[in-house]
Amino acid sequence: MSALILDGKQIAALVRAEWKLRAEKLTQQGTKPGLAVIIVGDDPASALYVKNKIKACNETGIYSEVHSFGGSVEQQKVLDCIQTLNQNVHIHGILVQLPLPPQFENNRVITSIAVEKDVDGFHFYNVGALVTGNTVFSPCTPYGVMVMLERNNIAIEGKHAVVIGRSNIVGKPMAMMLLEKGATVTICTSRTRNLLEFTKNADILVVATGKPRMVTAAMVKPGAVVIDVGINRLADGKLCGDVDYDAVKAVAGHITPVPGGVGPMTITMLLCNTILAAERAQSGIQVKF
Ligand code: GUN
Repeated sequence: MSALILDGKQIAALVRAEWKLRAEKLTQQGTKPGLAVIIVGDDPASALYVKNKIKACNETGIYSEVHSFGGSVEQQKVLDCIQTLNQNVHIHGILVQLPLPPQFENNRVITSIAVEKDVDGFHFYNVGALVTGNTVFSPCTPYGVMVMLERNNIAIEGKHAVVIGRSNIVGKPMAMMLLEKGATVTICTSRTRNLLEFTKNADILVVATGKPRMVTAAMVKPGAVVIDVGINRLADGKLCGDVDYDAVKAVAGHITPVPGGVGPMTITMLLCNTILAAERAQSGIQVKF
């Protein structure tokens, strides 16, 4: 058996087309959705991510602006920038590209973003909202995974979902979103003892460890849905995921490729969250109590 491929590029294109219409409608009504991206330092991977986000905004009818700071900038300068953006009525979403340089207090920076503009969903208020089933913004990568499952009619309720990874960006919100949809969820890490005993029982396996090809065919239940959030660059310059794709494809029921799986969905969901924020602003919907 060979797994069905979950094509992130195709689903991303469909979702973007739908939301582009919503952005156009808003713009006609006088509210062009706007995203501000803050980048600190000169990490090449972050610079590429930001470039791709801006390009995607342009293609979807979203106004965007980038605020770049040198790696040695004082944190207060960035906080002042966020305060100004919080007050700017043309900006509906604010994203601080992570990681920040080591002298920064991540939590202080993230929680200075207005809750209703936190399109990453990383503010403590929004994390609490997600965990209690009152989602304001779903974090983009796990949100993209959920949309991929939904668009492929993959049922979640009653399934055993295993998430490998406990990051605030992917693992933890992913587990919460699967739980909210009725899955029984196990959270593992790359260091979980006897990891195979957990993964072997997973109907849905989401891998976000940053360890190239760590999930082997022997770890996967036949017919399982395998979602690979990893993107790793090998010594030969090629990209690979956290799943041994060629081997696991022969065992799984569904699988996401790398590249072309979860990656294209992440930016797409950022566009959706920005348009959603603009829709709320336009109709005066308050998200914070
Ligand atoms: N760095 C890696 N992933 C992300 C993300 O989803 N949002 C932000 N802001 N930074 C990231």
